[in-house]
Amino acid sequence: MSHAPSTIEITRPDDWHLHLRDGALLERVVPATARRFGRAIVMPNLVPAVTTVERALAYRERILAACPAGAGFEPLMTLYLTDETPVSEIAAAAKSPHVAGVKVYPRGATTHSSEGVSDLTERGAVLEALASSGLPLLVHGETTDPDCDVFDRERVYLEETLSKVIERYPALRVVFEHITTLEAAEFVRDSPARVAATITPQHLLLNRNAIFAGGLRPHHYCLPVLKRERDRRALLAAATSGDPSFFLGTDSAPHPRAAKEADCGCAGIYSAPVALEAYAEAFASVGALERLEGFASHFGADFYGLPRNTGRVRLIAEPWSPPAFEGDGESALRVFLGGEMLRYRVVD
Ligand code: NCD
Ligand code: ZN
Repeated sequence: MSHAPSTIEITRPDDWHLHLRDGALLERVVPATARRFGRAIVMPNLVPAVTTVERALAYRERILAACPAGAGFEPLMTLYLTDETPVSEIAAAAKSPHVAGVKVYPRGATTHSSEGVSDLTERGAVLEALASSGLPLLVHGETTDPDCDVFDRERVYLEETLSKVIERYPALRVVFEHITTLEAAEFVRDSPARVAATITPQHLLLNRNAIFAGGLRPHHYCLPVLKRERDRRALLAAATSGDPSFFLGTDSAPHPRAAKEADCGCAGIYSAPVALEAYAEAFASVGALERLEGFASHFGADFYGLPRNTGRVRLIAEPWSPPAFEGDGESALRVFLGGEMLRYRVVD
């Protein structure tokens, strides 16, 4: 066992995959991210979806209005790709200083994806426009074939769709979002630098047993669903390898308690309030805390061609336990790792 440091200081991190929602929920969740992270890639799966630059800029204003004063937080906006997205919208997005990527949700793959893309390989004009503009394509990589086993959906999408698109458009920049499998980690590791991946804290810390630990655990249900222990280990190895193709993306996805603990519960884990500490826990578990800064604070900015943050954040070894819920009643939010012991705490 390597010696665990009692304190670690890193450049202020960024979150390269985040759901902030809208309205009252936006106001509740944005402070948790804004107080820790310099920037975040904000996912566009609102209802209605953020399909145009105009909607993205209006959403950005609502996010900024919900940020605590002086947070210095910068939301980086994304467009939601549909089968109807015109090339002109991609061009407008590439020109906007506030739009950082275009998100593809395979239609029906996850929360609010019914307007998503039916077949990415048929979106040639848009993919060419993205490739020539340099704007990254952010991919929820799961097949929507209902006959495909839910645990195989990422691997099958990679084989049948994503690998082909990446090969066909050699200038296309891709973030394979929230990867969950050994196959995805190996694919990104072996791809050129234009292909990167985000990894969530839950996929580094948990395997699929967590969904069934002593009973059904709806708050451990997210998409792509947690996988096997061999996959978790491969993701943890990738995240702590120092390979700049892997960086932090929490996929923090709040749903009110009543929508999670339901007959047909929503997918999504709300991790924003404990995200950095959760990643520290994962890195500490393999004695790799010295690699946290690259993953959390350097590699994502480098990939997106943005300057690294200048602020600093300090974590100290001091066991603590986050609250299980934020808020009360049906609208309470279950906090990831709430009630568990964490080894590191951020010093405010
Ligand atoms: C996300 C959400 O709730 O918006 N849910 C999730 O389980 N990750 C959508 C997504 O990123 O798939
Ligand atoms: Zn997401």
